[in-house]
Amino acid sequence: MKLSSAVQRISGEGAEAWEIHYLARQARDRGEDAIVLSVGDPDFATPAPIIDSAITALRDGDTHYSAIAGKQALREAIAEDFTTQSGVQCAPSQVHVFGGTQNALFAASLCLLEKGDEVIALEPMYISYEATLCIGGANLVRVSQPDNFRPRASLIAAAITPATRAIVVTTPNNPTGVVMTKDELQAVAELAIKHDLWVIADEVYTDLVFEGKHQSIAALPGMAERTITINSLSKSHAMTGWRVGWAISPPIMEPHFNNLSLCMLYGLAGFIQEAAITALTDQRHASAEMCDIYRARRDLVCTELAAAEGLQVLKPQAGMYVMADVRGYGMSSDQFSRELFAEQMVSVLDGRAFGQSADGWVRISFTLSEEELRAGCQRIVAFLAKR
Ligand SMILES: Cc1ncc(COP(=O)(O)O)c(C=O)c1O
Repeated sequence: MKLSSAVQRISGEGAEAWEIHYLARQARDRGEDAIVLSVGDPDFATPAPIIDSAITALRDGDTHYSAIAGKQALREAIAEDFTTQSGVQCAPSQVHVFGGTQNALFAASLCLLEKGDEVIALEPMYISYEATLCIGGANLVRVSQPDNFRPRASLIAAAITPATRAIVVTTPNNPTGVVMTKDELQAVAELAIKHDLWVIADEVYTDLVFEGKHQSIAALPGMAERTITINSLSKSHAMTGWRVGWAISPPIMEPHFNNLSLCMLYGLAGFIQEAAITALTDQRHASAEMCDIYRARRDLVCTELAAAEGLQVLKPQAGMYVMADVRGYGMSSDQFSRELFAEQMVSVLDGRAFGQSADGWVRISFTLSEEELRAGCQRIVAFLAKR
């Protein structure tokens, strides 16, 4: 039987980098003493009032088809939140609710990109961009960032061709924790305007900024009309499994997103939307509390890892991950992650999962308790002490 080539096309680079993560999960599930520092799923429980809202809505019979673009109350809450955070005036009609960021990225790429178009994304990049952006036959153009993963406008400019249609801007960034400055965003904005490009702004870590200030590229002059801003509750409210995400776009996108949603999702479950409304209104403070805990963990990990002299640790400005350069030990990131797991039962993620230019780096998540993180870091230091 013949299968579509589309799925093959979207399998993505760097899949083998996940092998150690899966092995570590299996070891932990068998009850072994594995410390899993390779995943980006917050360890916090979703705040109870958010869960209660979903349960109440379920009991009240909110189990039917829901509005395609999202409930009006949720679209209003998202629009108000975005306007407050970014300064961009956003109407509820510009908000489209999707099943997670992935779903929103998928929809944006299908609406913006045709077969043969090019979309630029900066490496290291979130793993599923290749799959979500290229589903319709567009080509992903990867631009590396040699300045400790800060974007260099000249490299982005050099990657633009007549086929370029869009640039993806991920700030704060996964895996690097870089928060783009206004000047860095301005440089991208100028290129987008000059070449008449769309910008897809992935802002899922907006609420987890430790230093610097998150700024939305949509707030820069001339950008709101060419930017699709994507966000979700996965990281801000520890709601990865709820799959609530959304896109904020210029009015021209509304009918296109509606058409796509009709065949992709047909409206996110109503009771989940009720939970999302609670997250963005009554429980807005929850993410600030989580952010404080992540900041303390980030500091702990950086302090503990400083004991390994050859390890260059990039202190993240935001997010849930530390990037560490292991090349000082004469190892590739693949070798490091395999040997670390074999010797110390600690899993980290090989940077190649985020693109070849992150070879030599590993991503260490701080989505565990301080006690577990300290133990994990001490095992890494012990592992490196023998090298
Ligand atoms: C940069 C980035 N974008 C999007 C996502 C996906 O988030 P969601 O759970 O909202 O689909 C992630 C998840 O790790 C991410 O790191």
